[in-house]
Amino acid sequence: MSVLITGGLGHVGSWVAYQLAKQGKQVIICDMAAGHFDRLGLDYLEEVRDKLVLEAVDVLDYHSMFELFRRHQDELEGVIHGVSVIAGPTFQQRPFKNISINAMGTLNVLEICRILGINKVVNMSSGAVYGDAPGPQSEATPYKATDLYGATKVAGELYGLQYSDTYGMDVRNARLFFVYGPGKRPSHMHMVYQGLFGPLEGLDDIQAPNGAEQALDWTHVHDTAAGIVKLFQKDSVVQRNFNISSGVSVDHLQIVEHVAEITGKRANVKLGPGPFVVRGAPLDISLAQQELGFTPRFTDIREGIRDYWQWLKSNAN
Ligand SMILES: NC(=O)c1ccc[n+]([C@@H]2O[C@H](COP(=O)([O-])OP(=O)(O)OC[C@H]3O[C@@H](n4cnc5c(N)ncnc54)[C@H](O)[C@@H]3O)[C@@H](O)[C@H]2O)c1
Repeated sequence: MSVLITGGLGHVGSWVAYQLAKQGKQVIICDMAAGHFDRLGLDYLEEVRDKLVLEAVDVLDYHSMFELFRRHQDELEGVIHGVSVIAGPTFQQRPFKNISINAMGTLNVLEICRILGINKVVNMSSGAVYGDAPGPQSEATPYKATDLYGATKVAGELYGLQYSDTYGMDVRNARLFFVYGPGKRPSHMHMVYQGLFGPLEGLDDIQAPNGAEQALDWTHVHDTAAGIVKLFQKDSVVQRNFNISSGVSVDHLQIVEHVAEITGKRANVKLGPGPFVVRGAPLDISLAQQELGFTPRFTDIREGIRDYWQWLKSNAN
């Protein structure tokens, strides 16, 4: 049997694909970037390339998506949906397009699965559904969107829950939080991410507009992906929303210090005052620990930073 992953060449999706492929699963990756896989530098996916089917498709192109899902329908165990425009300072610059990709894209996936009888869907959601509620937020914390991105993630979750209730589907929401690690280069990310992790890639003189007064629940991408795989593979669940994160908040200025200690070099990093995004932290991950057996490995961020640094050094080009 196969698992279809939308956004399977993204930071999180690529590691979910890797972990499933390492288990021997066939993975169908549907991602707009599939046409230039060779240029993405995802060395770990090269390792499992024989287990992957790559399909280039736009999640907003309903008809192409439908044809593609139908071609693979008989072999599918289920779908993991990971296409999204992620949170960040540029999200609000193109609201219609970004909201469409996140909300309409999720609806397209759910609707195609409903029509084709593909029952199981794991939707990559976000701790952004709690807005600025103070941490630790449990899954019982009410929805609160404090930005447009958060609104799209609330919408996607609610579509999924209603498709479950109305059509008897099994849709589960994985609420992820602030992912870092191998597969994404700091130089390709926003300025706060560059300020925190950029020196691992040799970046220097980084001036981020904000982020100094914040502690967030940064999660190593291996742990994020492992939580999603566990949620997908759990036979049945009583709850349908699960926090998947490290469960530990770390002060941003502390991360800058850790990076300087680990690399043995102090880069010139300035984070401006105030928070980067308005979120509480950490997420309470006890439900995922108890129900899914989720045990994040990188709860000491220094180990996660070391692992990230190794990957960046061995993929310098
Ligand atoms: N990265 C984080 O810190 C974080 C935190 C919380 C939640 N999440 C959620 O996790 C999921 C995955 O995030 P990520 O960090 O891997 O994102 P990413 O940006 O790395 O990956 C998204 C992937 O989707 C593909 N894509 C974008 N638009 C598309 C379209 N219209 N059609 C088809 N493919 C398209 C991109 O090519 C990319 O490979 C998202 O739902 C995101 O909201 C991420």
